Amino acid sequence: MQVNLREAWRIGPVAVPSRLVLAPMAGVSVQAFRRQGRRYGAGLVCSEMVSCAGIHYRNERTLGYLRIAPDERPLAVQIFGSEPELMAEAAEMVEAAGADIVDINFGCPVRKVTKTGAGATLLEQPERACRIVGTVADAVSVPVTVKMRRGLENGSRTCLELGPQLVDAGASSLTLHPRSARQMYTGEADHRLTAELVDLVDVPVVASGDVVSHNRALEILETTGAEAVMVGRAAQGNPWTLREIVDGVDERPSRDEVAAELIVFIRETARELGERRAAGFLKKFYGWYLRGGGFPRPFVQELVRLETTNEVVERLLIAEPGAAAAVARIDADMPDADGTLVPLPISAFGGG
Ligand SMILES: Cc1cc2nc3c(=O)[nH]c(=O)nc-3n(C[C@H](O)[C@H](O)[C@H](O)COP(=O)(O)O)c2cc1C
Repeated sequence: MQVNLREAWRIGPVAVPSRLVLAPMAGVSVQAFRRQGRRYGAGLVCSEMVSCAGIHYRNERTLGYLRIAPDERPLAVQIFGSEPELMAEAAEMVEAAGADIVDINFGCPVRKVTKTGAGATLLEQPERACRIVGTVADAVSVPVTVKMRRGLENGSRTCLELGPQLVDAGASSLTLHPRSARQMYTGEADHRLTAELVDLVDVPVVASGDVVSHNRALEILETTGAEAVMVGRAAQGNPWTLREIVDGVDERPSRDEVAAELIVFIRETARELGERRAAGFLKKFYGWYLRGGGFPRPFVQELVRLETTNEVVERLLIAEPGAAAAVARIDADMPDADGTLVPLPISAFGGG
């Protein structure tokens, strides 16, 4: 039976309108990324991981704003930490900010995080991991979900032991990225483990890792029984790939359209992070968008050297004058980002 990626599914009471979830990615999943992801077919989007200690102390240097706009929902906000009570406190704030789902990170392999006992470390601490999920689930009324890796070491099958325990503790859905923490992003995601996990739990499982095309998404959904696929790196600077993955229609954008999506992304990110932070943050996106969009490398290098986001936008409009009309079309389709503004510390480090 052929799976339809436009089919709706549920995480507890939350209806998710398509079977594509946009991955949480530290340093990437800003609001502009999430809103764009929803426009291109993602049924659920996620914030990058937010430090629960940062929320508790509210004095983190990376204090930023998490703005939840109506058009990005349903939205999961991901938290990381190792203390159940602090995690529960963070989850309460996340719920108050308007998130539809609280997601817990048991996957981050980055040492800065694992050495604090958070992220992937918790895969080897089932008792603490379950206490975190249980305490968080008791503290909020929205569904609590978990994103995890297969285990710490290569070949590990820890996720299959831990997954059912996390569901018993209160997890409403599990996302599995079936690489080990040691692997980081090397090798391949082994979705045979995803299939095994699906058989073991009675909550929806989301398959994360190496989903890059419609055919690959169908294959993973059909062979694993997962409810949805999650897409991460393939969507960086390339929202069109989300549409291809959901609908199987591969319409390559014109250069005008690529420039226009980048201009909207720049403008929205500058609004979210402020000009100073955004100017540096955005540089990696220029290459992601423009190299995929057929722009020459020297042009990308020229943009990266410009200091302000306004200069970048002006340069893009000179190169692609037709982008102005394309920006107007995107704006006409987009409601205002007048969501709630809640000061939350966003993590400076990333991974999962
Ligand atoms: C730059 C980057 C940052 C990431 N940050 C997070 C994160 O904050 N939380 C998380 O659970 N996973 C994070 N991940 C992992 C992704 O969510 C995803 O599971 C992984 O990239 C595999 O999917 P892909 O092959 O579609 O990229 C990150 C991945 C990348 C590449």
